Amino acid sequence: MKIAAEVCPVCAGSGWKAVPGAPDGGVTRCDCRLQARGGAMIAAAHIPKRYEHCELSNFHTDFPGANHSIGLAHITATRFVQEFDLRQGVGLLLVGNAGVGKTHLAVGIAKALIRERGIDCVFYDYAELLKEIQDSYNPDVQTTELRLLRPVFETQVLVLDDLGSVRPTEWRWDTIRLMLNTRYNNNLATVVTANFADEPASGVVDPDAPRKSESFATARAAAKEDTLGDRIGERMRSRLHEMCRVVKLSGSDFRKIKSASFG
Ligand SMILES: Nc1ncnc2c1ncn2[C@@H]1O[C@H](COP(=O)(O)OP(=O)(O)OP(=O)(O)O)[C@@H](O)[C@H]1O
Ligand SMILES: [Mg+2]
Repeated sequence: MKIAAEVCPVCAGSGWKAVPGAPDGGVTRCDCRLQARGGAMIAAAHIPKRYEHCELSNFHTDFPGANHSIGLAHITATRFVQEFDLRQGVGLLLVGNAGVGKTHLAVGIAKALIRERGIDCVFYDYAELLKEIQDSYNPDVQTTELRLLRPVFETQVLVLDDLGSVRPTEWRWDTIRLMLNTRYNNNLATVVTANFADEPASGVVDPDAPRKSESFATARAAAKEDTLGDRIGERMRSRLHEMCRVVKLSGSDFRKIKSASFG
């Protein structure tokens, strides 16, 4: 026996619905179509299994150890989704110590942008992305596969998680510069998370000077805690400030709070 597919009572299957009060019978995408498309877009967004549960709606702001910055970050993330304007290309830079919920919020933003606004988003872990690009590099033709770079350059919103988590080398600096500059020039928004204080380079070395090797940076970093400026260079940090609104999160590591509360 054939069961008739359920037809959306709002749009009667057309995928479009009337905008209340709009002149000239204006229409917009029906929620049923956004939902169906949203499911496919979320699947394509590359969100790691570990963060699949993350939503803006299950981000807690009221728990022992939560401070003002957590609530403020949640409000900023929610407004960012509501007010997101594709033409402006302004993203967010979420900074703070480990476990304060930077990645959770970034994933929540991406999922909400997809579902509620129909905006294309893709998630990449900074270190993994660099490794994939490096592995795909073909020294014979001195090129990297476009298949990998295209989403980074072209997706409407890129979530770049844990920026600077691997130590800078000349190649990594050039690569991140190319990614961010390309997006900046094309007015595409980037949501970045970073586990470093959003402060200038410590000044031990000139961060924008060409790097010789990884061991050079490793030796210097061993002496002092790195800032974001140390990890991505002052020029790139300043570029990020133009591209993103900075959101600072502070407080306890939620992973520890969770294990203390739930055993
Ligand atoms: N306010 C919160 N409400 C609900 N879950 C949270 C909250 N903050 C963090 N979590 C959860 O705690 C875990 C760690 O959070 P998350 O990975 O977002 O931290 P992070 O700031 O990105 O840390 P890191 O710097 O180590 O990457 C995740 O499972 C996340 O879902
Ligand atoms: Mg994280």
